[in-house]
Amino acid sequence: MLDFWTCCRKNLSSSLFGAAVVLFCNWYYQLSPCNSPPRKGKIHVLLLSSWRSGSSFLGQVFSQHPSVFYLMEPGWHVWTKIEKPGARVLRMAVRDLMRSLYQCDFSVMDSYMPENYNMSTLFMFHHSRALCSPPACSLTRRSDMSNETLCQKKCDSQGLEMVEKACHTYSHVVLKETRFFELESLYPLFQDPNLDLRIVHLVRDPRAVIRSREESAKSFDMDNAIVLEQRNVPAASIQYEVMQEICRSHVRINERAILKPPPFLEGRYKMIRYEDVARNPLKEINDIYDFVGLEMTSQMEEWIYKVTHGKGKGSKKEAFQITSRNANEVSQAWRTVLQHSKVKRIQELCKGAMSLLGYRTVDSEKEQKRLDIDLLVPREPYEFSWVSAKSQRTGSS
Ligand SMILES: *[C@@H]1O[C@H](CO)[C@@H](O)[C@H](O)[C@H]1NC(C)=O
Ligand SMILES: *[C@@H]1O[C@H](CO)[C@@H](O)[C@H](O)[C@H]1NC(C)=O
Repeated sequence: MLDFWTCCRKNLSSSLFGAAVVLFCNWYYQLSPCNSPPRKGKIHVLLLSSWRSGSSFLGQVFSQHPSVFYLMEPGWHVWTKIEKPGARVLRMAVRDLMRSLYQCDFSVMDSYMPENYNMSTLFMFHHSRALCSPPACSLTRRSDMSNETLCQKKCDSQGLEMVEKACHTYSHVVLKETRFFELESLYPLFQDPNLDLRIVHLVRDPRAVIRSREESAKSFDMDNAIVLEQRNVPAASIQYEVMQEICRSHVRINERAILKPPPFLEGRYKMIRYEDVARNPLKEINDIYDFVGLEMTSQMEEWIYKVTHGKGKGSKKEAFQITSRNANEVSQAWRTVLQHSKVKRIQELCKGAMSLLGYRTVDSEKEQKRLDIDLLVPREPYEFSWVSAKSQRTGSS
């Protein structure tokens, strides 16, 4: 399909092949996805992250923006629909699901939904401001911040027609996924002439991730089994083996995108450390917006300030919610709470990733607990040139 589409476009633009080809292409348009020509200027963003890495927060930074149609974890539907699968098998299905959703084709969801599904059947639909705003729902003006609680109560509609309609009205479609462990399976999306894909890769100190995962350990059972390819792993080792997979995937993805990226990846990948966002939210988020071609608004600025300068570490109940917290404090919480023996074990398992991403290891419990010792390596050595992304942006936004 894709080859033919490419062929059609090439022939049409060179117009050397005359009427027959044009007619054939026109006919083919009627039958194929070709009948939705590439939407000029539409930008597709994948917020690629891992569990408990601050991606709900960064997701909201996109979702609340008035130009963004956002969905949280559409791949969840794939992971939960198929029995006892492994991540390797599922990734292509998730990729193809994303490809359709980026083009606002929600028919693909049909395979993964129960009978008589509604908008509210979509995983965490109320986290998407676009689904709480017209045309999907009349609750929240598009320029306002949405309220998840109210949206969940008041916004729903039969099927996904309104979702699809809403999707078409935005310049940016942003999907958040935690379910990819490499980039190669996504290459066809970069090469698809219908898509203009940017990846924002969010990482977090694995010691903080472990601590955060322990707070809601039970909720990871299904995902853990899939990440570990349904292998039989002693219960006490599961969290470490999963963490090791996650760390390996950070290295795999980052190295692939930075050292010798294929040409279609250049300028399309940006790595973000959660801790940098926590320390300097406005600067980091401005950079991210720049990278994907979104304007900062004063309302977004205010909101970002408010949610990153709140009341402290956050309770267990808040583990999956975005509330006003002190982001910087949250990012250090593991240092006082996590047993040093666990810290040591994670440091062993994630040595490569920590060194690549700029997280210093601690050698003793004392060092761990001395919060004045900074464990974040300044990012300068990891700063790459995003020049090409910026110049593309002026062309396409
Ligand atoms: C969707 O909404 C309809 C009507 O409001 C309801 O009868 C149906 O049970 C809902 N379906 C699901 C899967 O929630
Ligand atoms: C959302 O709305 C609920 C119900 O009206 C309210 O209690 C809550 O404070 C609101 N949340 C925010 C973040 O404004």
